[in-house]
Amino acid sequence: MAKVLIVGAGGVGQVVTHKCAQIPEVFTEIVLASRTEEKCRKIAAQIKRPIRTAQVDADDVPRMTALLEREKPQLVINVALPYQDLPIMDACLAAGVNYLDTANYEPRDTAKFEYRWQWDYHDRFRDRGIMALLGSGFDPGATNVFTAWLQKHEFDTIEMLDIIDCNAGEHGQPFATNFNPEINIREVTARGRYWEDGAWHSTDPLSVSKMFPFPEGIGPKKIYLLYHEELESIVKHFPTLRHARFWMTFSDNYLKHLEVLGNVGMTSIDPVMYEGREIIPLQFLKALLPDPSSLGPLTKGRTCIGCLVQGKKDGRDKFAFLYNICDHEAAYREVQSQAISYTTGVPAMIGAKMMLTGKWRGAGVFNMEQFDPDPFMEDMNRYGLPWSVMQVDAPME
Ligand SMILES: NC(=O)c1ccc[n+]([C@@H]2O[C@H](COP(=O)([O-])OP(=O)(O)OC[C@H]3O[C@@H](n4cnc5c(N)ncnc54)[C@H](OP(=O)(O)O)[C@@H]3O)[C@@H](O)[C@H]2O)c1
Repeated sequence: MAKVLIVGAGGVGQVVTHKCAQIPEVFTEIVLASRTEEKCRKIAAQIKRPIRTAQVDADDVPRMTALLEREKPQLVINVALPYQDLPIMDACLAAGVNYLDTANYEPRDTAKFEYRWQWDYHDRFRDRGIMALLGSGFDPGATNVFTAWLQKHEFDTIEMLDIIDCNAGEHGQPFATNFNPEINIREVTARGRYWEDGAWHSTDPLSVSKMFPFPEGIGPKKIYLLYHEELESIVKHFPTLRHARFWMTFSDNYLKHLEVLGNVGMTSIDPVMYEGREIIPLQFLKALLPDPSSLGPLTKGRTCIGCLVQGKKDGRDKFAFLYNICDHEAAYREVQSQAISYTTGVPAMIGAKMMLTGKWRGAGVFNMEQFDPDPFMEDMNRYGLPWSVMQVDAPME
């Protein structure tokens, strides 16, 4: 039915390629392109179906456009880095190709992300008659759809949302990040931010924490308030929300390393001169840390990511927690990646499937929660990320 071009051959790119290859009736042809083509070939070699590969620097809009004009895919699945979002969207506009990503645009020189840059493309995508689906990973992605599903099926109005992301896995390394270290550390060391009564409030990085009892034997874990991009679009699309926050677990060991690295300046993105050449400390640190894809065979345990919602049903207060649990070792057995890449790559494939089968359709730029959550939620159960809803007695403070 459709040809897709996947851009980015990292941890997430590997999972998306495997998952698309499992559904030949939708993804009839797959091309995997990245800056380093050798990485594409390595992924293609893991898969029984033929996957073609290509080399592209997606920052180079004319080259990216030429690749699209040559390959003529129906959709680009962008799982390169957030820096490439705008150049790839420009190339999609030039070539008239639909677009999907899993993370919103970030400028390289400021650790800041917001949807404004990509929402600004809405009219141009609409006028070109093509669609962009933003943030089709887990968080953002599945968490936006979870919120929309809860609003549709469990509540009359939703008032409080806590998105909670727990990685209860262990990889045995002294310090490593589960996805691209540069993007991960920029996110974690930024100021926290949450929505309350019509305004954003900010907090010092990792300064707000509490315990949360995770279900299915994972147990209580300390969660830290962070700012995460889906809060921006969810607050816009669910205006009854008075309160919206995002939380993530970190081990004491991870935080100890991060604090020391921060204190000595290794997490900074400000250039420094070293032996006559300019380097960015965080990029140098990335070169020293384990490649997240090397953690696949080492990681054991589970992730639990979900949405805790408080709202009204039939005039009464109600609380519900909708979550998925994903097992690192099971993910590795299936696609040779740990659960962090798996939980991102599967929703990217499902979002692509929604677009290509016409279940989610539109001209312009969209966030996940703007579409009917039901077909997406059915596919989460079908393609490896089953979910559950738990009724909760009381909200988090
Ligand atoms: N929504 C979610 O739940 C979620 C969760 C995790 C990650 N993500 C997002 O998923 C994306 C991929 O993450 P990852 O962990 O797979 O990262 P990764 O392992 O670092 O892989 C990124 C890939 O993109 C390629 N790339 C970088 N710059 C490029 C360019 N200019 N042109 C072409 N290819 C380029 C890299 O090529 P090289 O190999 O040559 O460097 C690499 O293959 C990121 O945007 C991340 O923020 C989303």
